[in-house]
Amino acid sequence: MQGLLFDNFVRYASISSRRYLGNKYRLLQFIDSVISPYRENIRSVADVFAGTGAVSSLFTDKQIITNDILYSNYLCHIAWFGGEAYSESKIIELIQQYNQTDVEESNYMSENFSNTYFTECVCKKIGYIREDIESLFNAKKINFRERAFLVASLLYAMDKIANTCGHYDAFRQGVKNLAQLELKIPEITWVNNPENQCFNEDANALVRKIQPDLVYIDPPYNSRQYCDSYHVLENVARWEKPEVFGVARKMNRDSLKSRYCTRSAPEAFQDLINNISARYILVSYNNMGEEGDGRSNAKISDTEILDILAARGKVEVFSSKYKAFSAGKSNRPQNEERLFFVVVR
Ligand SMILES: C[S@@+](CC[C@H](N)C(=O)[O-])C[C@H]1O[C@@H](n2cnc3c(N)ncnc32)[C@H](O)[C@@H]1O
Repeated sequence: MQGLLFDNFVRYASISSRRYLGNKYRLLQFIDSVISPYRENIRSVADVFAGTGAVSSLFTDKQIITNDILYSNYLCHIAWFGGEAYSESKIIELIQQYNQTDVEESNYMSENFSNTYFTECVCKKIGYIREDIESLFNAKKINFRERAFLVASLLYAMDKIANTCGHYDAFRQGVKNLAQLELKIPEITWVNNPENQCFNEDANALVRKIQPDLVYIDPPYNSRQYCDSYHVLENVARWEKPEVFGVARKMNRDSLKSRYCTRSAPEAFQDLINNISARYILVSYNNMGEEGDGRSNAKISDTEILDILAARGKVEVFSSKYKAFSAGKSNRPQNEERLFFVVVR
């Protein structure tokens, strides 16, 4: 997507410009190299723990099926990969207006989040913009894809200036953050397949309903729940204005918890793999193992992964060392990210 109309005023954001735990931005070439011998046999790809959607962006020449348990990620997937037509000039105009607006009135965001992750002034602006997007949608002045574009722009803008070390489990106390909220347009440099589909459900439920050629699986690997780490973005995306609690201002997240962050992760993984209908399965799983603290320990052992996958076909393991985004802890050891590839029998 190229902005011809107001290029001087509105800037673009790439799919990889968001801070996101476990993102695979730096592994895209590695993933591509593992898949490349099979590319011609693949017409559809399901990225069932899609997160930012960065891995899906490797497959824009295919039919893409994205999924994530978080609604905030789902809306971003609709923006990046959805098939519904949208008016670029309308989005540019609204983003221009939002970037230039100063907001005096208090709202849900300023009442609940002032001077936590954002200043009071930025909170007022976030609350105002999110409310306006919803009003435009309810009044049918923007369609679902346009709403997703605008919410995604807002979430990316919030993430750029949040007073955190990359996730929302806590905010940095006493830091004066004067950065301004600047919405940018998601930059789509590809043409979306009109048959792309985006889902917002448990991956284990979804795989029972789809039959793509390749399923890519990148579950959380430790006890860190994504709904805890990204609760503020999820709250703004859903815009149900729930009560929030404690210093971190978290809402109730019971329905968003992932089994992959608990002791029953091996059973969840087995159920997932057993219910996939596809020619190929590709799994990413980190091996922080015993090197990290208790919270970082992997929930599924290598033996469990290999045994579960071997029941579906021949397994090949590929490995790449890389420096993971680790929320501010720069002295972590290098992570080894492995890809397990299965040609399904
Ligand atoms: C490791 S991240 C994926 C990162 C992604 N590959 C990327 O490059 O951005 C795992 C994702 O799985 C999602 N998730 C966790 N449990 C899930 C479940 N049961 N079903 C669907 N998504 C789930 C989380 O919200 C998170 O976005």
